[in-house]
Amino acid sequence: MRFSTSSLLALYGLLSASVLTVAQPNDTDTDFMSVRENVAKDYESEGDIPTEKYFTESSFHYHYDGRFADQPLPDDQVTPHLSALIQTYLSTMSSIGAETWIMHGTLLSWWWNQKIFPWDNDLDVQISEPTIHFLAEFYNMTEHHFDLPGVNEGRKYVLEINPNYVVRSEKDHLNVIDARWIDTSSGLFIDITAVRKDDARRARGQTEALMCKDRHHYLESQIFPLRDSYFEDVPVKIPYSYTLLLEEEYGPRALTNKNFQGHNFNEDSKLWEHTK
Ligand SMILES: *[C@@H]1O[C@H](CO)[C@@H](O)[C@H](O)[C@H]1NC(C)=O
Ligand SMILES: *[C@@H]1O[C@H](CO)[C@@H](O)[C@H](O)[C@H]1NC(C)=O
Repeated sequence: MRFSTSSLLALYGLLSASVLTVAQPNDTDTDFMSVRENVAKDYESEGDIPTEKYFTESSFHYHYDGRFADQPLPDDQVTPHLSALIQTYLSTMSSIGAETWIMHGTLLSWWWNQKIFPWDNDLDVQISEPTIHFLAEFYNMTEHHFDLPGVNEGRKYVLEINPNYVVRSEKDHLNVIDARWIDTSSGLFIDITAVRKDDARRARGQTEALMCKDRHHYLESQIFPLRDSYFEDVPVKIPYSYTLLLEEEYGPRALTNKNFQGHNFNEDSKLWEHTK
């Protein structure tokens, strides 16, 4: 089946897309709190920690998927490709009703000017545990074609779900990435991690405890309710306590230091410019 989602995406004035090879399930505007209880228990025990890594990175660069590329992009092509990568990801998740938000370095770059840092070569997003189940069930290996301004024939993106997403333990250190959104034209991808209920901490009385397999820990009230904003000119969700989360992860100076990675933040243009 072929579904056109171009009308919705045209609202953003940037993209048009068609989703190939997927059945359209019911819209699941999942409420994190209500579905959490149903999905949290039925997983493999900690005794079944995988011994193999599911996702592989290319030998030439750890931010590329070697199945789709044999060399990195030229430097001046990286940011435009990352921009299209996050725009197409956010548009697709929004149109299929999958809750997602930006985190880590991507959230920090949003904090400054709602744009990707010019020196970045990766993007980080999170999803809730019900969402990873939903994506695994209905959208694994789906291909999403986007017509992009100035790109002949457009680009095809693939959503791939790590089968080890069902293993909830931090001990599964080979599979901390739960899913990827991959640009098949360049091999660049977005790492998607699921935020899960932290059973161990909850058993010790921390009722709001959340965790990711990559060993990041949060409280529900730090992430939810998500806030609405824009990133790379498309709608995005932001964790509720973004300042606190950024200060915890990068230190307060990351929010004030205008000299970073050979770049200066220009207060007038709101852009990071190469230091002369
Ligand atoms: C969507 O869910 C409702 C309620 O569960 C159900 O009645 C309906 O058939 C579903 N629609 C599709 C397209 O699956
Ligand atoms: C997704 O599909 C790939 C390719 O068929 C497969 O290796 C992987 O196990 C699937 N993931 C899930 C969650 O089923």
